[in-house]
Amino acid sequence: MAAILIDGAAIARELYADFKQRVSALGSRGVRPGLAAILIGDNPASEVYVRTKTRACAEVGVHSVQHRFGVDCPEREVVELINCLNADPAIHGILVQLPLPPRLNAERILQSIAADKDVDGFNWTNLGAMVAGHTLLAPCTPLGIMTMLDREGIALEGRNAVVIGRSVIVGKPLALMLIARGATVTVCNSKTRDLRQYTSLADILIVAAGKPGVVDGSMLKPGAVVIDVGINRLPDGKLTGDVDFASASLVASRITPVPGGVGRMTVAMLIANTVTAAERSIGAG
Ligand code: GUN
Repeated sequence: MAAILIDGAAIARELYADFKQRVSALGSRGVRPGLAAILIGDNPASEVYVRTKTRACAEVGVHSVQHRFGVDCPEREVVELINCLNADPAIHGILVQLPLPPRLNAERILQSIAADKDVDGFNWTNLGAMVAGHTLLAPCTPLGIMTMLDREGIALEGRNAVVIGRSVIVGKPLALMLIARGATVTVCNSKTRDLRQYTSLADILIVAAGKPGVVDGSMLKPGAVVIDVGINRLPDGKLTGDVDFASASLVASRITPVPGGVGRMTVAMLIANTVTAAERSIGAG
């Protein structure tokens, strides 16, 4: 059986129509959502991601500004800018594109973003709320995955969800969101022994390992839903996920493509969080 593709691009397009309406409703109350993106150094992938996010803002009418720093910039200057943006009423969301040059203390920089403008959801207030089963502003990739599963009508309660990857950006918050929805959650990592022992039990398998080919079709439970978070560039320049798509799509019932899957949802959720933050700034939403 060939799996049905979960089309992240199509779901994102539907969501954008809703965001445009919310932006227009805010406009009639004199508010235009604003996003500030901070880019430090010259990582080519980060350049592409920030450009994609800025384009998405323009598409739905969110105002966006970019702030750039050289690779050698003092940490103090970045934190000073964030303090200004925290106080700027025209800015509702602030993101610092990762990864940062290793010289900088990413924790100190990220934690200086005000929790109510932390549209990446990396602030400890926003991450911590999830431990208690709440989402204030949730990290974009896990939020995008949950939105995708819901839009596809995939039941979570009582089902086995296996997450490969334990990062603060994806694996850990996603596990908390799945737990909050009543799934039985297993979190694997690069040290997990006999990975297939776990993957073969998964009704829903989410792979955020950052390495191509971590999972193939022989490791899946027949009919599993497979969400591939990986974005890896091959030597020939092509993008590929963490899952061997050719073999997995023969065993899974549904699977996300790379590109055109989770990545599109991540950007959509950044816009969602920015619009939500703007709505909350006037007591709506
Ligand atoms: N780098 C990789 N993923 C992300 C993300 O979701 N947000 C930011 N700011 N940087 C990233």
